[in-house]
Amino acid sequence: MSLLIKNGEIVTADSRYIADIYCEGETITKIDRNLAAPAGTEVIDAKGKYVFPGFIDPHVHIYLPFMGTFSKDTYETGSQAALVGGTTTLIEMCCPAKKDDALASFELWMSQAVGKSACDFSFHMGVSRFDPQTEGQLREIVQRGISSFKIFLAYKGAFGVDDTELYRTLKLAKELGVVVTAHCENETLVAERCKELLAAGKTNPGQHHESRPPAVEAEGVHHLMSFAELTGASVYIVHLSCKESLDQAIAARQRGVRVGVETLIQYLTLDKTYAELPKFEGAKYVMSPPLRDKRNQSVLWNGLRDGLINTVATDHAPFDFKKQKPMGKADFTKIPNGIPSLEERINLLYTYGVRTGKIDLHTMVNAASTQVAKQFDLFPKKGAIQPGADADLVVFDPNYRGKISVKTQHMAVDYSAFEGWPLEGRASVVTVRGQVAARDGKFTGKLGRGKFLKRKPSHF
Ligand code: URP
Ligand code: ZN
Ligand code: ZN
Repeated sequence: MSLLIKNGEIVTADSRYIADIYCEGETITKIDRNLAAPAGTEVIDAKGKYVFPGFIDPHVHIYLPFMGTFSKDTYETGSQAALVGGTTTLIEMCCPAKKDDALASFELWMSQAVGKSACDFSFHMGVSRFDPQTEGQLREIVQRGISSFKIFLAYKGAFGVDDTELYRTLKLAKELGVVVTAHCENETLVAERCKELLAAGKTNPGQHHESRPPAVEAEGVHHLMSFAELTGASVYIVHLSCKESLDQAIAARQRGVRVGVETLIQYLTLDKTYAELPKFEGAKYVMSPPLRDKRNQSVLWNGLRDGLINTVATDHAPFDFKKQKPMGKADFTKIPNGIPSLEERINLLYTYGVRTGKIDLHTMVNAASTQVAKQFDLFPKKGAIQPGADADLVVFDPNYRGKISVKTQHMAVDYSAFEGWPLEGRASVVTVRGQVAARDGKFTGKLGRGKFLKRKPSHF
């Protein structure tokens, strides 16, 4: 089976030119002008369109038992949503609870995806406990193709690790060359502030951001930076939301700490006033770290442009507005945290980042594909358009005009946080390893074709 994408404007992290891309089987084999199509080749005309490397979301939750409920997507729905939106690879957080066995959890998360996903996938292995048995299992999981761990400094009593566990996890990661991704918020500060707010009768969704202001996140980042500095481990801050936290990461880099920084499309486009919407509408916008004061948005866009922030993810965590968010109707601390956005990351990044001049196309491709592939040991099979790379390609139509709506989305959740938002461009054709998987907002791929991507640690 061969595929020829003709006359598109190829845009990568560092180049831009018009050419044809020829793919044999699952791989890009030739890039040149005026390539001929041998008999039987599927030809896609990309004239007037961009061709990007398949986008990679480095932080999603598909299967997530959390806050007394389960996130709504499955790999069947989640991978369709990803592909329609131009994301061809997902890296999911495998999130065992403290009491859970690491290896059994890894196998459970794998079983959710294998034979079901239409896009390629991998996992960050969550470490919610560190003891001799877990250590042995983590070594085994790395052997099976995982090169990143995930730790939470938040969610006391659920996923959160203590400082001894944090130190030992980082030491093991350093030995194995694994990068440690981290949710940075000081869990004690969160717990104390939640108690105070509730005692004062402040129970609505708009109080969520009062319980975890920027200093709470910045303290978490500083904490992680100190541990990374002492152990020499390579770390990656997930969902960084504000200037105070970015300042801590930059200061640590200046001291020699190897730290990657991820922000989310939600922090770039939404602010805390959404979580303050009346009639419990704000619950749609409750996530952690919370949406921030609008002044942070320019800091994040500029950080992306200047390379201080490396990646843009979604932290996709879908919980229904009608049935799940109301678990916290009388107490904001019980609202399942998460703002679904897997399907819209690239469209939003393009419309509200590139079209408005905040970032250029190369920065978009870099932050949503190439840097992710480099950070997580997938490059150059993923994140690149060159012979030998996987034929994961996004033919993107900059002339599309439309609006986001829950009515047309593929994510299995009953609302869109971006309902009615105009879009100026979207993925027109999306391929995964040489096969077309989405066209103009419709899934056309094959469930179960997605492959588990084995990754080899490189962060020694
Ligand atoms: O609010 C969020 N971020 N929900 C998902 C879990 C996490 O912290 O990543
Ligand atoms: Zn988190
Ligand atoms: Zn997350």
